[in-house]
Amino acid sequence: MNILILGSGGREHALAWAVMQNPKCDKLIVAPGNAGIAQIAECADLDIMNGGLVATFAEENAIDFVIVGPEAPLAVGVADRLREAGFLVFGPSEAAARLEASKSFTKEICDAAGAPTAGYARFTEAGPAKDYIRAQGAPIVIKADGLAAGKGVIVAMDEATALAAIDDMLGGAFGGAGAEVVIEEFMEGEEASLFVLVDGETVLSIGTAQDHKRVGEGDTGPNTGGMGAYSPAPVLSAEVEARAMDEIVRPTMAEMARRGMPFQGVLYAGLMIKDGAPRLVEYNVRFGDPECQVLMLRLGAQAMDLMHAAAEGRLGEAQVNWSDDHAITVVMAANGYPGSYEKGSEIKGLDALPEDSRNMVFHAGTAAREGAIVATGGRVLNVTARGDSLGEARDRAYAMVAAIDWPGGFYRRDIGWRAL
Ligand code: AMP
Ligand code: GLY
Repeated sequence: MNILILGSGGREHALAWAVMQNPKCDKLIVAPGNAGIAQIAECADLDIMNGGLVATFAEENAIDFVIVGPEAPLAVGVADRLREAGFLVFGPSEAAARLEASKSFTKEICDAAGAPTAGYARFTEAGPAKDYIRAQGAPIVIKADGLAAGKGVIVAMDEATALAAIDDMLGGAFGGAGAEVVIEEFMEGEEASLFVLVDGETVLSIGTAQDHKRVGEGDTGPNTGGMGAYSPAPVLSAEVEARAMDEIVRPTMAEMARRGMPFQGVLYAGLMIKDGAPRLVEYNVRFGDPECQVLMLRLGAQAMDLMHAAAEGRLGEAQVNWSDDHAITVVMAANGYPGSYEKGSEIKGLDALPEDSRNMVFHAGTAAREGAIVATGGRVLNVTARGDSLGEARDRAYAMVAAIDWPGGFYRRDIGWRAL
């Protein structure tokens, strides 16, 4: 099979790595890719937001299967354009991608499906939104309705912060994404994520993970895209997972099908768990980044067969072969991230690191320049390891981190602390 992966981050490097483990893959192209991906696959410069261009490229390169990594192309219908052109695609339609692209849409689907989630109200005018906040009191959560690159959520611990968030969002801080706001009840508990593949009808769990969103050790400081992750997430026990499947995931997937917009692809359910009861925080319609890195290291070659089965509507006959293992990924980020950061610093020591089914450094934001690897993004490397226990995986990952010579970057030393 000739495979095309769309995207350029650590998530896509991990997807490419898993696909390359599978002997059914004859040729792999990643667009646009990055310097790490270029070491294992062909990279192609392509505007992945343009479905027509992607379809033409897929035709020219005799592609049999397209895997869409990030949410942005899904939200503008790139999967639809490819399917219209006759390609097999892993990833939801534009209509189904609204589960990530619109928070109010997701709330409406959850209501219709009876799925437990935070109580909420929706507003397009500042006056009534502020009255509602004053009536509810803090803590309270303010969300821009649309995609805002992970920055559209304010968890306000006091009323003044909440009121200011309303002025920001409705005042255009997030452009069209903030034209409507969802104000939510603050949920307490422990957060974890459940990843399922869906083929429109059948739902198959492919694992759980927890990430570390804050930049600082002990989960302090500003939010980031994720500074590390591990899988499985102990708080998502088999019992909690079964409840999340029965009460949240399956009913919402059935509601989507009932509305004529069946979901196909990977659904990432962010859950808040308290006293063994899960509630939905949010859905994403793609793999988490860096959660994908730990899931791929655990699943290996079968990941491609599972995604292919989801795309072909054959998940009913698929199953996951689990080994009783753990994986962890430590993000190395450029100094200054998540604020403004320096670009172009050189990273040394990568060549000497092991690359096998237990140790992989996935590249998130790198480029090759005159034979050297340089940092080009905020999150730059995902140092990922697998082991029989989380502790073993962690020790392996941090041993690799220690061997990387990159004064321009930093990392958290406590990834996995909650579970260890
Ligand atoms: P989201 O982008 O919806 O995942 O929100 C980002 C983060 O904000 C989540 O991972 C949670 O930590 C937090 N959050 C979102 N909604 C709520 C809520 N209703 N109650 C408490 N925390 C929340
Ligand atoms: N790591 C969080 C996300 O991918 O949204």
